[in-house]
Amino acid sequence: MVTKTSELPARAAGTTDRERTADRLLRSTAARSYDPELDIDWSAPPEAGRVYLPEHRSTLYGTPLWDRLTPGQRRELGKHEAASVAGFGIWLECILMRLLAKLAYEGDPATRHVQYALAEMAEECRHSTMFARLIEWMGVPYYRPPSHVHALGRLLITTAHGPAMWGAILIGEEITDRFQREMVADDSMQPIVQMVNRIHILEEARHIGFARAELTRSVARLPLYELPIQRGVLGRVAFIVARNLINPEVYRSVGLDPAQARRAALANPAHHETIRYGGEKIVAFLREAGMIGPPATRLWRKAHLIG
Ligand SMILES: [Fe+2]
Ligand SMILES: [Fe+2]
Repeated sequence: MVTKTSELPARAAGTTDRERTADRLLRSTAARSYDPELDIDWSAPPEAGRVYLPEHRSTLYGTPLWDRLTPGQRRELGKHEAASVAGFGIWLECILMRLLAKLAYEGDPATRHVQYALAEMAEECRHSTMFARLIEWMGVPYYRPPSHVHALGRLLITTAHGPAMWGAILIGEEITDRFQREMVADDSMQPIVQMVNRIHILEEARHIGFARAELTRSVARLPLYELPIQRGVLGRVAFIVARNLINPEVYRSVGLDPAQARRAALANPAHHETIRYGGEKIVAFLREAGMIGPPATRLWRKAHLIG
């Protein structure tokens, strides 16, 4: 049911921008959201000659290893790299759902922003199922993040708060969003992958709007002594995300040694540019918010997210 802002209950009406933003996002969620189980035809076979990832976004693009791959091998590697990003996305969304659950657990459920956190959890839950279906449809392995990253995720769930928490959410959401926007405009892509991206872009636009507003609010309330800690956590998250989107095991799919191919990818200027492109918008926002700086500037640079 659609509720106008002016019809907000007394507890929320006219109180804060936070409630108004959440109310608008809730109305948008009610008006436009997808059920990937119904809205994607998972029985459709892959289309011959179409790619799962744009070639120029492959981690090895432009390297001597890439030059030695056949067009079929390049497509196969792109498929596994896309599966790795989807697997990493599921891991990120599981963390995000737990963070949103924390907000709902601590907050007042009769407020719009807690209700929006619940609505966003429901969407993330459907997204993770959608990414899992995509991996299944592609017929490739589930590439999970390495065990130390898995453990750090658990730590983030229990300790993250304030702007670093919202910043971590935004890094996960906005980097993938940037690539997905590029892919929906690329006709060389598999139609099912494009549909997955289209759904994700539409629903993530709300999540990004919510998280950006929450980050701005929490930065304004942050005690000065906490700023370096928050920047440190966020820099670490940014580095982990940039380094783990692609699991080195993907290289086995085209007969390459994971360690050797990983080294080639990490030294590849085209891959550095891909990471920079993915992070461009969120980096500008976090810089403006004062969340990128000492003691973590080095980590952002090492991740190739800043120059
Ligand atoms: Fe999502
Ligand atoms: Fe999201």
